[in-house]
Amino acid sequence: MDYRELLKMAEEIKRNSYSPYSNFRVGAALLAKDGRVFTGVNVENASYGATICAERTAVVKAVSEGQRDFDAIAVSSDTDGGSFPCGICRQFIGEFGDGIKVITGRSDGEIRVHSISGLLPHAFSKDELNK
Ligand code: THU
Repeated sequence: MDYRELLKMAEEIKRNSYSPYSNFRVGAALLAKDGRVFTGVNVENASYGATICAERTAVVKAVSEGQRDFDAIAVSSDTDGGSFPCGICRQFIGEFGDGIKVITGRSDGEIRVHSISGLLPHAFSKDELNK
């Protein structure tokens, strides 16, 4: 599974986005180190704060299936160059490894690859809890 293919999966799953309030569709595809892919979409709610982002949906699906080792997560929205995970999602992804790659862009165009630690420098982590 290459990153362009992973981004294509994020683009495709976006069709399941439940986003009647923002009309901002987001899809995510999370690649586990064993090759499995867990997809996710944003799921909004009439109580706006109950909304969950696409990235966290994908991580929750994976972890609840027993998977915790991740290589990369691709994110797709309807904005031209793709979009990056929000702050909460960066924190949520980083919980499972600071080397996880975040893939954005377009599968039929330019792809950007960043590490989660680059997107969330000086993150609060489990290391703090053990001091
Ligand atoms: N959203 C995501 O799914 N992921 C992000 O990283 C940023 C925002 C969703 C939440 C909400 O449903 C919509 O995009 C607008 O904020």
